[in-house]
Amino acid sequence: MSPLHKTRTLPEDATDAALRSDVLKGLTHTPKTLPPKWFYDAHGSDLFEQITELPEYYPTRAEREILVARSDEIAAATRARTLVELGSGSSEKTRYLIDALSELHTYVPVDVSESALTQAGQALVAERPELHVHALIADFTAGLTLPGAPGPRLLAFLGGTIGNLLPVERAAFLTSVRTLLSPGDALLLGTDLVKDEQVLVRAYDDAAGVTAAFNKNVLTVVNRELGADFDPAAFDHVALWDAEQEWIEMRLRSRTGQTVKIPALGLAVDFAAGEELRTEVSAKFRKEGVRAELSAAGLELAHWWTDSEGRFALSLSVVR
Ligand code: SAH
Ligand code: AVI
Repeated sequence: MSPLHKTRTLPEDATDAALRSDVLKGLTHTPKTLPPKWFYDAHGSDLFEQITELPEYYPTRAEREILVARSDEIAAATRARTLVELGSGSSEKTRYLIDALSELHTYVPVDVSESALTQAGQALVAERPELHVHALIADFTAGLTLPGAPGPRLLAFLGGTIGNLLPVERAAFLTSVRTLLSPGDALLLGTDLVKDEQVLVRAYDDAAGVTAAFNKNVLTVVNRELGADFDPAAFDHVALWDAEQEWIEMRLRSRTGQTVKIPALGLAVDFAAGEELRTEVSAKFRKEGVRAELSAAGLELAHWWTDSEGRFALSLSVVR
């Protein structure tokens, strides 16, 4: 059995410069914001897995349906020997691709969540003893370098996680992805699609309150890593649809006027009663928009597959 190989391009502990700088910038900005990548400590990754099983949260099931139906076609179109997956999380749906890719030599899951990578990597190494698994603890928005591995490469970005980047971040991200790809390589991109507002809002404000706990987990991360004194119970979970931007926004609304201390930054942050902190956008897409964004990054949309209810899409771009 090949052992699980792990490489880290992030500093060991999450009190690193990136968290400090994001928290300082985001909480001194008007309106207040925090980037969604800080949701995913071990508990946040676990809460996300619970979200994927909620009756209201359709994207995971919809994308799985497409992968079940199309993995053979994806394998035939790419003949990948290396599969790189950005924001791989549990790598649960990825197994359909891994099984379909008959020439696959190396799987490179990339994630900021070391706990998710270790769990998924160890399970895969045990299940697929012939596969080389090289887990990369890295931020996919921060100038990714990939380990040497045989081509052709298929770079998968599933789950609709691209929608968690702001449009300007998305453009920079897709351009950087394009530079990682050589002729014969391909990008497989999962995008959630624009749909009925009620369906969308319910998916981000579930009855069991798991998404609310996931949203508030970012406060717990800041408390633990920067010594802050956020009281998660003093904030309400908010999910709303922005029809102009075509994205869901998650926010945390302060229940009262309060001051939060963040000793590691020497900062005291005032919240007015009702003031909201934006913690995530989750953009929803249309085919022509995806085609245009790919094209702006020098990528050509070659295949577009949706689930039977038209809720979610996978697109494949093969580099010529
Ligand atoms: N692809 C999986 C998981 C999606 S959850 C699925 O479809 O179910 C989003 C994943 O992306 C999490 O595991 C999170 O830790 C990771 N992630 C979020 N922002 C990231 C970043 N900037 N760099 C690397 N990984 C990131
Ligand atoms: C990871 N990402 C695609 C999820 C989404 O749907 O935007 C994160 C999430 N946020 C709330 N629920 C799930």
